[in-house]
Amino acid sequence: MLNLKKFMALENNDFKILSVTESLMKRHEFIPLEEIIEFSEIRGDEVEFRIKNLSKDRFISKPVKKILRYEGYQLTSYGLDALGLKALVKSGVIDAIGKQLGVGKESDIFEAINSKGTRLAVKFHRLGRTSFRQTLRKRGFVAEQSQISWLNQSKLSAEKEYSALRTLVSARVSTPKAVKCNRHIVVMSLIVGTELKFAEMEDPKSIAKEILRNVRRAYLGAKLIHSDLSEYNILIKPNGQILIIDWPQSVSIDHPNAYDNLKRDIHNIVTCFRRQSNLTIDLDNALEYVKGNVRNLTI
Ligand SMILES: Nc1ncnc2c1ncn2[C@@H]1O[C@H](COP(=O)(O)OP(=O)(O)O)[C@@H](O)[C@H]1O
Ligand SMILES: [Mg+2]
Repeated sequence: MLNLKKFMALENNDFKILSVTESLMKRHEFIPLEEIIEFSEIRGDEVEFRIKNLSKDRFISKPVKKILRYEGYQLTSYGLDALGLKALVKSGVIDAIGKQLGVGKESDIFEAINSKGTRLAVKFHRLGRTSFRQTLRKRGFVAEQSQISWLNQSKLSAEKEYSALRTLVSARVSTPKAVKCNRHIVVMSLIVGTELKFAEMEDPKSIAKEILRNVRRAYLGAKLIHSDLSEYNILIKPNGQILIIDWPQSVSIDHPNAYDNLKRDIHNIVTCFRRQSNLTIDLDNALEYVKGNVRNLTI
């Protein structure tokens, strides 16, 4: 994770160098030092001095092996963190970062506050952390495994989650509210809650119904299928309200995999309630309910 002390020590010209490096990554895998100097419009010796420190603090990196005939650098995920956080702080979205809320398979989540003292959740998308096979299974493809492509995929993942959250809230699906997206970082409302605790559940039937009601709203109202739905992506508040989180894998209902994804999502819910609460939910009925073909769930 990003070292906040090192982040705080960065100066404007450091950010300029990081930002130039980021934008030149569209052109090169490793950006030639001369181009960084040219586009940053900072004196060459100053750029060299700053690059040495940025590289020592791992905001940018050189190739591991000597594969280049020139001196070249690329942005690291810490560099991307620094640029994203700087933008969010500068635009007044967040004022401070607090404790870590979760380490997901493909993200790090922290608590944050804004200037009004509102608590927020900040999700850093980090693709490329899971194994090749998991990515293949979940996404159906494996992209070229370069640093640039991982950074770009992390950004795409964040943008996708952000736009899904915005659509879902207007369809009245119970999810965190999207606040802002910058690069690979999504800022959303903080949920004070826990994972589903089956052992302590007084009325598992009404919770299962509430989950499926929200899956139905997502399908009919937002035209979205979660595609990674499981008990781990549902939070419950002390008042019993459930929230469905973690939407970067969501697909539109006319996506070629839509039906399979929907069936798998519902199957996961049906299975965990059967195993953990001994509750029988008919998969076909639940599917028809979510798709709006029947009015009621028969649990
Ligand atoms: N808005 C939020 N408020 C509070 N905690 C959250 C929020 N979003 C995620 N979390 C916590 O972080 C964990 C991982 O988040 P999630 O979105 O599922 O990411 P991943 O894709 O990495 O699984 C969750 O299980 C939850 O504990
Ligand atoms: Mg998750």
